Amino acid sequence: MSYENILVETRGRVGLITLNRPKALNALNDTLVDEISAALDAFEADDGIGAIVVTGSEKAFAAGADIGAMAKFSYMDAYLTDYITRNWERIKTCRKPIIAAVAGYALGGGCEMAMACDVIIAADTAKFGQPEIKLGILPGAGGTQRLPRAVSKAKAMDMCLTARMMDATEAERAGLVSRIVPADKLLDEALAAAETIAGFSLPVVMMIKESVNRAYESGLSEGLLFERRVFHSAFALDDQKEGMAAFVEKRAPQFKHR
Ligand code: CAA
Repeated sequence: MSYENILVETRGRVGLITLNRPKALNALNDTLVDEISAALDAFEADDGIGAIVVTGSEKAFAAGADIGAMAKFSYMDAYLTDYITRNWERIKTCRKPIIAAVAGYALGGGCEMAMACDVIIAADTAKFGQPEIKLGILPGAGGTQRLPRAVSKAKAMDMCLTARMMDATEAERAGLVSRIVPADKLLDEALAAAETIAGFSLPVVMMIKESVNRAYESGLSEGLLFERRVFHSAFALDDQKEGMAAFVEKRAPQFKHR
């Protein structure tokens, strides 16, 4: 399949999606989000893929939704087309883990896209922000919901209400990103992390993703119950037998379901 706004390739057992609208700092539009959704469908159906990396350019992961395209929108244009968000949750529903590798600007929808992924690895050049208020709108692809869960209410309010940007150090301290790496190592580090994940048992990887997401979306008792049920079900897997036998026999595991 050919895409207009993204580049899609495979590196080992990792699917790589690169946002590719360099002239507009990877500004997001419906076509781009639809293409990401199609690429995720293909990676999810591919047994050779165990994890996915989404990245942008050196200057911008993505500078938000395309302002030029939105400028003349009426309420009906936005509402009837479910602008930007009609395929957004496909990132969340993908059962294989997605790492956002972020360098430069991740603003508005760009920050929201990174937050919709499972892990954010940031280059030391990364800058995160929800500056929609400057345009007379508010974050519309999860910013007001995912940011407080990631960084606390106070910081999310600060970011959304003042439009200030957070640099990589502040973002790591606040818990928005999992690690910071030098900009020239960003893709290698993200691909290496994804390859590590892709080397484990895929059903276990999926169980962990589902369980952590449950923590994110439910209360503690419900989350603990969910985890316990999934934990016990892991004992039905061949890969559990193999993983534990390998430990006991002091050898590397050969997982069957990768
Ligand atoms: N939409 C469309 N085009 C964009 C864009 C966007 N979000 N962000 C940058 N561009 C374009 C610029 O118009 C410019 O194009 P031209 O060369 O044709 O003029 C090009 O990308 C380079 O941008 P700048 O010249 O502005 O680059 P800079 O280095 O001076 O500034 C920046 C970089 C601070 C990121 C600045 O471009 C900027 O503030 N961009 C807008 C950020 C923003 O407001 N994002 C939120 C969008 S709304 C949203 O995302 C809603 C939602 O929740 C889904």
